[in-house]
Amino acid sequence: MFEVQKIRESFPALQQKVHGKDFIYFDTAATALKPKAVADRISHHYLYEASNVHRGLHFLSDQATENFERVRKQVQNYIGAQDESEIIFTRGTTDSLNLLARSFGKAFLRPGDEILISDIEHHSNIVPWQMLCEDMGCQLKTFTVNIHGKIDLDNFKENLSRKTKLVSITMVSNALGIILPVEEIIKLAHDVGAKVALDAAQAIPHQKINVQKLNCDFLAFSAHKLYGPTGVGVLYGRSEQLDQMPPVYGGGGMIDEVSFLQTTYLKSPFRFEAGTPDIAGVIAFGAAIDFMSTLDMEAVVQHEKRLTDHAQTLLAHEKEVQVFGISKNKDPIISFFVPGLHPSDIGTLLDQEGVAVRCGHHCTQPLMRRLEVSGTIRASFGMYNTEKEIEHFVQSLRKVIRILKG
Ligand code: ALA
Repeated sequence: MFEVQKIRESFPALQQKVHGKDFIYFDTAATALKPKAVADRISHHYLYEASNVHRGLHFLSDQATENFERVRKQVQNYIGAQDESEIIFTRGTTDSLNLLARSFGKAFLRPGDEILISDIEHHSNIVPWQMLCEDMGCQLKTFTVNIHGKIDLDNFKENLSRKTKLVSITMVSNALGIILPVEEIIKLAHDVGAKVALDAAQAIPHQKINVQKLNCDFLAFSAHKLYGPTGVGVLYGRSEQLDQMPPVYGGGGMIDEVSFLQTTYLKSPFRFEAGTPDIAGVIAFGAAIDFMSTLDMEAVVQHEKRLTDHAQTLLAHEKEVQVFGISKNKDPIISFFVPGLHPSDIGTLLDQEGVAVRCGHHCTQPLMRRLEVSGTIRASFGMYNTEKEIEHFVQSLRKVIRILKG
């Protein structure tokens, strides 16, 4: 039984007013609100446990190391990885993808090789590959996904060849919410010897992910989208890949032996984690996973699906609203446009009604170009949202359109 009111009590941010109105947070795809337990864990760490990891012999340092490494194990279990050494802590999805690009590139790419991505990716799954291809003399290719989430497999196969060394694709579009059938892509890519990286930033809060079942080679996501803190992310990689990949950042904590002639490195994950990590953030990420583990994920998914269906149904009656990426099979993200009005004007006035949405290109300029808009208004939901909030949002939207159209 999913009790949304009980869930809401865990999120103090929802109990405030904005511009004198009940606060409605529809920007979870940008970052999820945090349960009190996550914020409390950060504060507890700084107040009582602050200490560096993997370095000290003293009590607090030992304890911090133990708490930090426990989260690695939690993440391993949460995504079904085979070994904890396959979990690298980063600063977020963008950092994970940049790290992957640099390290994978150095280990496995030669001039003339190709990287294949979809044409609906977030900039963080485009630009690192572009930069890498430029440096290495490789080619970045794209394949087509329609805005309802269907991959054009013929087009995918046309772009896939023995030259393709890596396919990097999002599991869920951050701009549209559509879910991509990545299983088929993974199989086809492996058939030509290419590895597959999945951007799970938007998928991880809304579906159960098992990397071994998916059979992907790499997976990137951020803690802050999974109700955890900002500044922490994960790069998962199969150990047989990671063992062959060089570090990207050099410094403390990643070396085996340093001399002026030669330096040798630790194994994964430590070789990829130079310097002092976000210790409090990682430990609080553990609290977010604990929070998620108390929930029936199937019930969360069903609740979010009801919200999405409700929003799609109500918006379908709004004649002036053009919704992109309508689908029965999508995560709780609704993107729309009102011809003749600027998305930012709508967002600003919705804010005055207490409704927080994101407006703009959502770091997906190539997709916006395809949709022939400069940007959209994006309402994205989390487990704490309600159908009543959606009704209030649609009424507010109607009011805002009326005001703006005079
Ligand atoms: N990538 C995040 C979004 O889609 C920030 O809003």
